[in-house]
Order: sequence, then C-alpha cells, then structure tokens
Amino acid sequence: MSESPPPTSAPSAAPASADDGQERLATAVRGSGVEDPRVLEAIRTTPRDLFVEPLFRSQAQDDVALPIPCGQTISQPTVVGLMTQALALGPRDKVLEVGTGSGYQAAVLAPLCRRLYTIERHEPLLKAAEARLQQLGITNITARHADGAWGWPEQAPFDRIIVTAAAEDPPAALLEQLKIGGIMVAPVGESDLEQQLIKITRTQGGFDYQELALVRFVPLLEGVATP
Ligand SMILES: C[S@@+](CC[C@H](N)C(=O)[O-])C[C@H]1O[C@@H](n2cnc3c(N)ncnc32)[C@H](O)[C@@H]1O
Repeated sequence: MSESPPPTSAPSAAPASADDGQERLATAVRGSGVEDPRVLEAIRTTPRDLFVEPLFRSQAQDDVALPIPCGQTISQPTVVGLMTQALALGPRDKVLEVGTGSGYQAAVLAPLCRRLYTIERHEPLLKAAEARLQQLGITNITARHADGAWGWPEQAPFDRIIVTAAAEDPPAALLEQLKIGGIMVAPVGESDLEQQLIKITRTQGGFDYQELALVRFVPLLEGVATP
C-alpha cells in the first residue's frame, strides 16, 4: 500500500456526485479487507474532498494518497481504514494521533472515540486541519503544534495511539504513554520507500507486536518545522 501521491498529470474522472464518491471510497476500503461497519461508516461520512487541495479535488475520492502543503501527504483511504480498524476503538477511548496532516485521519477517528489529541510539526497544516474539523462540527479533538515523538505527557496515558509518519522504531515516549491493554498502530522501518505497519499491544509484561501490511509513509521528523 502506497502513501506516495500518484503522478499529477493523469487525474481520474470526477465522481458523478460527492455522495457517489464517498460510497466508492467506502467500497474500496471494504474491498481492502476492512470489515468493521463503524469504520466503514466513518469513511463513508467523512467528506475527503474537504481535506484535499483544490488542484487534486477531482481525485479526492480515489483510493490514493495525495499531496498536501509543506511537502506532506493525505493518506490513502484504504490505509486510513486499516489503521482505524486495527485500533479497535471503543467509545470511551482517549486517543493520541501523531501527524495531523490534513486532519482527514483525525476526522475518521473522532466519531469512534471519546477524545482525540493530535499533534503536527507543521503549524500551517495544523491550523488548516483545525479549521476543517471545526467546519465539520467535530468537537472532541484537541490539536497541538509540537514534535509528536514526545507524545502528550500531560494527557497520558492513552488507550490508543496512532502514528501517521514512519520511524525506524516506535518512539519510546509513545510506548511509555500507552496504557496497559492499549493499542498503538505505527509504520516502522529503516527505508523511506517501504515500511511495515505494526500493531503494538501493551501487556502487563511488555509489548506484543503484530505485522499488518507493507506501507509507505513520509518520515517522522525531529522537532517542529520552521516557517
Ligand atoms: C502522512 S502525513 C499525515 C496524514 C494525516 N494523518 C492525514 O490524514 O492527512 C504525516 C504527517 O506527520 C507529520 N509529522 C512528521 N513528523 C512529525 C513529528 N515528529 N511530530 C508531529 N508530526 C509529524 C508530517 O508533517 C505530516 O503532516
């Protein structure tokens, strides 16, 4: 599964309507193996065109990653679905997302949990994402401009943690901020071209690791981005 944007020279045809496009997205996510009806409904009802730059809006409801400002990407919907399903969210869960980006993944998570804390190192991305989430009337997300590798210690521990940028290893601070019984989903690997999406479950004695899929994410970078 690729997080790389497709060539910009070959846009696909626009969907007949936004609703048709959203149905098509949910169908693609279901076809990729996501079966949780709550996740499929969240994908269907989150208007992805709102999170995509105007230049790429005709591809908003295709199952592809697309460029967003600051050299980043909005994730591929099937990857968003897979990661969301792997979190096995409950309505009381307190969730941390590292890598807000466009805010799309956050908007998909929001209806499935109690509260989401999301961190982004690019301030312009964070501001734009907050505006979109507000436009959708989503009120259970708190956003912060920071280096997410350090987590959000004041709000820890978290029931669930999702990392949407790739690191060689899961950041230690994030593992420490996961509750016992909690789940973290993150792309991990040395290569910029391909990483393993892993699900980490914190147990009484340590951590269990499960490989989910090969993915390609932008790197988790140190510090906040300078303007
Ligand atoms: C693949 S994009 C995120 C996609 C996003 N979840 C969405 O739905 O649009 C990864 C994001 O992680 C951010 N990022 C990378 N390293 C980070 C860090 N240390 N702390 C916070 N955000 C980081 C990037 O700036 C980028 O916006």
